[in-house]
Amino acid sequence: MSDRDLASDRFGFTLHARDGSARTGAIATMRGTIRTPAFMPVGTAATVKAMYPEQVRDLGADVVLGNTYHLMLRPGPERMARLGGLHHFMRWPHPILTDSGGFQVMSLSALRKIDEAGVTFRSHVDGSTHHMSPERSIEIQGLLGSDIQMQLDECVRLPADETAIVKAMHLSLRWAERCRAAFGEQPGRAMFGIVQGGDVPALRVESAKALVGLGLRGYAIGGLAVGEPQAVMLAMIETVAPHLPEDKPRYLMGVGTPDDILRSVERGIDMFDCVMPTRAGRHGLAYTRHGRINLRNARHGEDTRPLDEASACPAARDYSRAYLHHLVRTDEILGMMLLTWNNLSYYQDLMAGIRAAIAAGRFLDFAAETREAWARAEA
Ligand code: GUN
Repeated sequence: MSDRDLASDRFGFTLHARDGSARTGAIATMRGTIRTPAFMPVGTAATVKAMYPEQVRDLGADVVLGNTYHLMLRPGPERMARLGGLHHFMRWPHPILTDSGGFQVMSLSALRKIDEAGVTFRSHVDGSTHHMSPERSIEIQGLLGSDIQMQLDECVRLPADETAIVKAMHLSLRWAERCRAAFGEQPGRAMFGIVQGGDVPALRVESAKALVGLGLRGYAIGGLAVGEPQAVMLAMIETVAPHLPEDKPRYLMGVGTPDDILRSVERGIDMFDCVMPTRAGRHGLAYTRHGRINLRNARHGEDTRPLDEASACPAARDYSRAYLHHLVRTDEILGMMLLTWNNLSYYQDLMAGIRAAIAAGRFLDFAAETREAWARAEA
């Protein structure tokens, strides 16, 4: 990039404060700023399920996640580009991060095959066969108009034998180089690499060092929350974080519960995404300051209290648990809408609390108080 391009390049990460290994800062993108630590609501198929985009924004989300795999099947990347790109299509003018597709291929599609060239798979929608190379993944993410694009990678579910983990990690590194070449230099946008290496510390370090050698704009840690205990996940974060540059964002993919988030922020993670708040909301589960509540349970049938009287979110504050219980039991659409709204509100409030606590130098106290409130409710 020339100096002039660099001057107009609005992608960058600024750290505002640190508290132990926890950090708070801001990622600047062409489409706006992402305050970190950030939780990205999952908008797989060009919608954060059961939510209006304006509602997602009003809760304080700065960025949502889209999925290459789903959008390449429907409506198709070329059609999306003709329709003005994903931001315009879904009426979300703010930053969008897209996952590269490999992870979803492995979890959703039938008859998938991975080789050096890329992934070949059968669509879970209509059985049609597709091939995606690292270059095509980046091309699709470009057609969608994604602000933060992820490299194509291979994620191995745990437990797995070390040979499979080594092979997937090395393949992911080769694909990272190809994705970086395909992405080139795009002012205001970024491509992140993904650290793999399963539960083997030496492989994690090798992966992180090689990716950092590529000089990317951000680094994700993948292949976690895929069947291993939380302690293993945290140990892998502790192994990897010291090898990542301080001045680049760190994204823990597909994580997690509120407790996972607190413990990962404590170890230096800046970005998260997870289907948990949205999926749980469609299954009758509410995240609150007092822990997780299953509204399907009969004990809520005559409970006139709201989920959280102190919340600014109408779903949490204005509707009785008895009503939510009724909506869930009768499979009403509004039940899913209200619980998703409540859950994303809880997650965004948690992130805002985390950011404020780090800035005030009291992150560990905040984490302890947050956990105590969950424990009191369970007792
Ligand atoms: N989402 C959750 N984990 C992963 C991962 O390891 N790779 C990718 N691409 N997406 C993920």
